[in-house]
Amino acid sequence: MNKNISPVRSKVKKVTTHVLKAMKQANEKISMLTAYDYSMAQIVDQAGIDIILVGDSASNVMAGHETTLPITLDQMIYHAASVIRGIENCLVVVDLPFGSYQGNSKEALSSAIKIMKEAGAHSVKLEGGREIKESIDRIISAGIPVMGHLGLTPQSIYKFGTYAVRAKNEEEKNRLLEDAKILEDAGCFAIVLEKIPAELAKKVAELVDIPVIGIGAGAGVDGQVLVLHDMLGINKEFSPRFLRRYNNLFEQITTSVQEYIKDVKTVDFPNNKEQY
Ligand code: KIV
Repeated sequence: MNKNISPVRSKVKKVTTHVLKAMKQANEKISMLTAYDYSMAQIVDQAGIDIILVGDSASNVMAGHETTLPITLDQMIYHAASVIRGIENCLVVVDLPFGSYQGNSKEALSSAIKIMKEAGAHSVKLEGGREIKESIDRIISAGIPVMGHLGLTPQSIYKFGTYAVRAKNEEEKNRLLEDAKILEDAGCFAIVLEKIPAELAKKVAELVDIPVIGIGAGAGVDGQVLVLHDMLGINKEFSPRFLRRYNNLFEQITTSVQEYIKDVKTVDFPNNKEQY
């Protein structure tokens, strides 16, 4: 861990919600990536990430669904438990999937408890503002840390109809600012802001004392999150403006698989040293 760019984080082994708050206070940026399985979680954690999000984007990148709606609570628990077995230091946040908390606050609490108990997760994330406040209150009262999620909320895609930038007009901007305050007052330990104007995201980060993590929300927030498969270039279809690709694994894996196929077909593999 680089002490110059991570003075707070470099002093602690395990990331907790308190460490994240101290990072915000020290103006130290927070790094967050998704992961859905043991092997990737191990790599991401050992690379020094602060937070792993077991996102319901697993529905898209792991299961091939068009939206995040189909993934179930049990499937999220399977992914989260695999991630937990792979990590030592980072904080793990798990998405409550669509349909597991919108019904009522009792249902929300029982879904959150199931994730904590069966996956060994450290915290949960819910999409929405004032409309889910009662659920957030109940989950936090049970001692479960909650991360909020405002702006583009993919579980409501059929309500909005598009994945376009959110909160562009005054009314939506004001509502989002109010919702951020409601989430903070309810006791959320952090908020994800997805695909909103950078200026508004900066305002939110200044308004609340809890860390604000952005995705497509500019540089004025307290940290950034990306979907691992997108930033590694594992999938080729998704390339929004906010995405920076750090690798081109689709091509690299294709080349490796093609080399393997050739080696098998030409009986180059296995050679004498690769057999018993
Ligand atoms: O599910 C997910 O990956 C997310 C991020 C986009 C924040 O919620």
